[in-house]
Amino acid sequence: MPTAAPEIDALQHRHLLGLTDYSAEEIRLILRTAREFREVLDRPIKRVPSLRGVTVVNLFFEPSTRTRLSFELAEKRLSADVVNFSSAGSSVSKGETLKDTARNIEAMKIDMVVIRHASPGAAHFLTRCIDSVVLNAGDGAHEHPTQALLDINTLADLDLPRFAPEQLHRGDFDGLNVSIIGDITHSRVARSNIHGLQKLGATVTLCGPRTMLPREVERLGVRVTDRLDEALDGCDVAMALRIQLERQKGGLFPSLREYHERYGIKETHLNRYPDLRIMHPGPVNRGVELASEVVDSDRSVILSQVTNGVAVRMACLYLLSGGIGAPGEASA
Ligand code: CP
Repeated sequence: MPTAAPEIDALQHRHLLGLTDYSAEEIRLILRTAREFREVLDRPIKRVPSLRGVTVVNLFFEPSTRTRLSFELAEKRLSADVVNFSSAGSSVSKGETLKDTARNIEAMKIDMVVIRHASPGAAHFLTRCIDSVVLNAGDGAHEHPTQALLDINTLADLDLPRFAPEQLHRGDFDGLNVSIIGDITHSRVARSNIHGLQKLGATVTLCGPRTMLPREVERLGVRVTDRLDEALDGCDVAMALRIQLERQKGGLFPSLREYHERYGIKETHLNRYPDLRIMHPGPVNRGVELASEVVDSDRSVILSQVTNGVAVRMACLYLLSGGIGAPGEASA
């Protein structure tokens, strides 16, 4: 019988660039820490001093609602000093490079950088330009590690009939079937989730039109199908991905109506699979990936994902900061 890996109390990495190189035990440490911070978020005063004296810069070169607000809230809940940068209205429009932008901001004495950028590898690149701790908030189609961590946190808290709650709660996803549906090729959310979920023992099925599935996708150790019914049979949780509407012009699928017809999750699916839970990283195109009734149904955990995002980002910032203070310590 395999012995369980011992619990760790510190991350083995200085940055959070992706889940490819994070171990199952590091992911479980983030889950345990996020759970402590989740309790802080339910208090009347939602603030702890864990990052007091630490300056965090949010560098956003791409639009964002959830990730940006969630990081900012997480930083403020930890008492960090927070500075927000968006490329619109900055000297990037005058031609300043990412390297120069980052080095100039770092010269103002900062400690941690959260970056969202359209180019895959931008977060890795930043670690070679500056000394600050870097957290990847989504880099092109590469990775979106905090999204996958908050998804995993949400899965760990689910009450699923096939599982004892303690099993999922401790981050043991052995036997859990998760189907990811949509444009897998261009999805950083899918990539980070595939790595994270498999490390915890889940079986991952990818589903979408063949034009949206990467070549040689089977090499990732996942199940693959272009039929939604095959993806949903035996599935515990379906994670629908946003259809990037700009890609429709690229001819990856004939029309939004047809996409919804073949790959959209509808009320009929909720009726056919009574234990199925629905996730989506947002923003949702209602009536495309998910029927509107599905988004609003009690089987959808989309808003729990958003709530968990703050706690998970608090955990990541806290653990990467070197853990000054204690997660549960009340504000002075
Ligand atoms: N899930 C996600 O990354 O959403 P935003 O683009 O709004 O940050």
